[in-house]
Amino acid sequence: MTLMPFMTRSELVYLCDSSDLLESGTGVPFEVLYLSQSCHAFAVRYEGTVYAYLNRCAHVPMEMDCQPNHFFDHTGHWLICATHGALYAPQTGQCRLGPCQGGLVKIEVSEAAGQVHWHTSDQLQPENPL
Ligand code: FES
Repeated sequence: MTLMPFMTRSELVYLCDSSDLLESGTGVPFEVLYLSQSCHAFAVRYEGTVYAYLNRCAHVPMEMDCQPNHFFDHTGHWLICATHGALYAPQTGQCRLGPCQGGLVKIEVSEAAGQVHWHTSDQLQPENPL
C-alpha cells in the first residue's frame, strides 16, 4: 500500500493588480496567518517576475523595511533589511550577505490576466477565511 502525503489544497488569494508592482520598485504589503500567527508579508517584482515573502528578517525576526514598503537596496538587485543590512536574493529569499541565517519565508504567487494572487498552504492562510 502506498501512503500519500497529507496535503492541504492550495487556494489563490488576491494580492494586487500587476500594475501595482514595478520592476525593483516598492513592495505591496499584505497580511497572512503564518503558523496561525498574524504576519505582514510583501510582494515585489524582479526581472519581470513577482516574488513574495514574509516581512520578517532571518537575523532577528523583525520587519525589514524602515521606509514603508522599500525592500530593494540601491542597486535594485537585492532585498535588504534596513536594520543591519542583510541582503537577500529576490528570486529565492536566500541570504546573500550580512548577519542573516538561512533565508526569508517564501510565499508562492502567480500572475495572470493583470492580477497577482498568493497561494495558501498548510502554514500560510488568509487572515480572513475564504
Ligand atoms: S534584523 Fe535584519 S539584518 Fe538584523
